[in-house]
Amino acid sequence: MTDVEMIRQYGTGWYHAFWSEELAPGAVMPLRYFGRDLVAFRGEGGQAHLLDANCQHMGAHLGYGGEVVGDSIVCPFHNWEWSGESGANTKIPYLDRCIKKSLGVWRTTEQDGIVYMWFSRTGSEEPTYTPPRVAEAEDPTFYPLYPHGANRAEVTFPPQFAFENVADISHLRTVHKWSDVPALNGGGADGDMFFTDFTGHVPTRDGDVTVRVENYQWGLGVVYSRLHGLHPTAQISAITPIDHDRSVYSLSIWVGRLDDTDEPKGRAKAVIDEQCKQALNAGGNDRIIWDNQIYIENAPLVGDERRTIGAFRAWARRFREDNAPQPPKATPVPADVPFPKPPTTYVPNR
Ligand code: FES
Ligand SMILES: [Fe+2]
Repeated sequence: MTDVEMIRQYGTGWYHAFWSEELAPGAVMPLRYFGRDLVAFRGEGGQAHLLDANCQHMGAHLGYGGEVVGDSIVCPFHNWEWSGESGANTKIPYLDRCIKKSLGVWRTTEQDGIVYMWFSRTGSEEPTYTPPRVAEAEDPTFYPLYPHGANRAEVTFPPQFAFENVADISHLRTVHKWSDVPALNGGGADGDMFFTDFTGHVPTRDGDVTVRVENYQWGLGVVYSRLHGLHPTAQISAITPIDHDRSVYSLSIWVGRLDDTDEPKGRAKAVIDEQCKQALNAGGNDRIIWDNQIYIENAPLVGDERRTIGAFRAWARRFREDNAPQPPKATPVPADVPFPKPPTTYVPNR
């Protein structure tokens, strides 16, 4: 397996599937993730369901013309009915019984305006963590996420390229034009989470402003970031593979309120625009690097990079399909430089 094939393997974990507001009760939506065709629908009672898309009768795609009844979906082709809970066949309109066939059911959880899906590389791994809760999502001093803070793009770079930014402290100066290389307050792996916390200086019209960033990366799908100093901001950056070549990159951004409307204004809007411009949109500072980068597994990491980027790469390996024991790397993570433990509670983002 080449380095780039390795880095494109799917990882076990929670992934962003869609925003809650995109699926009203009774609505149906076709999706494609992890090389599979899927159908999302919301039961009439409000529960979101995610199933394999193709009807087990004659293969119609339930995402195109399927209709919701209760917590089931009715196939547009011959109206066979499938349970969103169990995937089981629950009705054949022209037969007095059901058949023992069922659709694959994908585990979902819905929080903070996001529906997450669980992917297991073996098909049988149970969740070992939950997606991070966003403290700002229920904070009335922040604008609502949807629709202005919710933006996505389809990308072709390996998802880990973007996530390695969590551990890449020095690129803040070179790519994002911070005044200095931020000082690391703490970071490292903690089970299924990788954490960094750093403080640096960002040039503004009024001179340098001290900015602190916390990043909490959970699995290979989701990172919760909080920015303090410029304008209160929280963000879920999520990348969900469509297949081994393409992914959906979603930014969910909560910004502090400046007025009583639901639409971010002024500085708050500028934060969203700037995050999208740098990371999400083609040609942005980060995007242009990721779009054209190659993956070097045995990168010659130097200095602090070994305990930041090197530690991140070593940690990320645990989630992938190829997570068999790896040969020793040329740049091992030094065991004698422990990081502080991440905080277990979040302080309010003000
Ligand atoms: S293909 Fe779905 S009911 Fe026949
Ligand atoms: Fe970046």
